[in-house]
Amino acid sequence: MKYKDKINPDALPKHIAIIMDGNGRWAKKQGLLRVAGHQKGTKAVRDVVEGCAEIGIQQLTLYAFSTENWKRPKMEVETLMKLLVSSLRKEIKTLQDNNIRLDAIGNLQNLPASVLKELEEVMDKTSGNTRMNLTLALSYGSRDELVQAMQQIGAKIQRNEISLKDIDESVINEHLYTRKFPDVDLLIRTSGEQRISNFLLWQIAYAELYFTKILWPDYRREHLFEAIYNYQNRERRFGKTSEQLG
Ligand code: IPE
Ligand code: IPE
Ligand code: MG
Repeated sequence: MKYKDKINPDALPKHIAIIMDGNGRWAKKQGLLRVAGHQKGTKAVRDVVEGCAEIGIQQLTLYAFSTENWKRPKMEVETLMKLLVSSLRKEIKTLQDNNIRLDAIGNLQNLPASVLKELEEVMDKTSGNTRMNLTLALSYGSRDELVQAMQQIGAKIQRNEISLKDIDESVINEHLYTRKFPDVDLLIRTSGEQRISNFLLWQIAYAELYFTKILWPDYRREHLFEAIYNYQNRERRFGKTSEQLG
């Protein structure tokens, strides 16, 4: 039986987040340049996005470029940015065909103007789509996100718009880039690394973590369905006892 058929449609994770890792190692294994791995990775993105829409996932967030990734060689950063522009152009059709809305989180102002322009165009064109929300984390860092949230909250206190005692978890949540989305239920990282790399630190407080050795360019929807099936067979206790969950 295929994993897709084993998935319980009534217990899907509301929000899946993926750290798409291993492009460089995939390329090296084939004797290719790292950028070839990034190129191949776009095929995995398309397949996983379609797979998520197919089974009814509402929110998918993909870690595409971190605040730390700016430190990579200039040539790799430039290629990644060019690849982003061409992928956005190419994949608008996939998004429209599947009724998927595109969104982005991160310090977007740091992106080259060409990327920002393309991104805004695709976000605009898909803004009426309702089947699934796809969010790209671009120039995203969780600590950076928390810093900007605290600055905004601090400014509101200074302007007497809110008072210190009003600050609670929901106020913090409302000032994050992800304010519209539910918490992450399932976090997947490919390539065998078992770390978070500054991704959605607040939002994964109670996420189920799933690590696979598959390198991102080889990742396909069937692998994702396996991860979801695995997720559905875990007991999420949220601090309670097993008996309390009944
Ligand atoms: C993930 O693959 C893509 C980005 C971080 C942009 P990597 O480029 O990190 O690939 P590895 O980890 O070096 O194999
Ligand atoms: C995390 O991968 C960022 C993305 C997948 C976009 P990295 O490859 O940059 O993470 P580290 O440096 O190995 O932790
Ligand atoms: Mg990596």
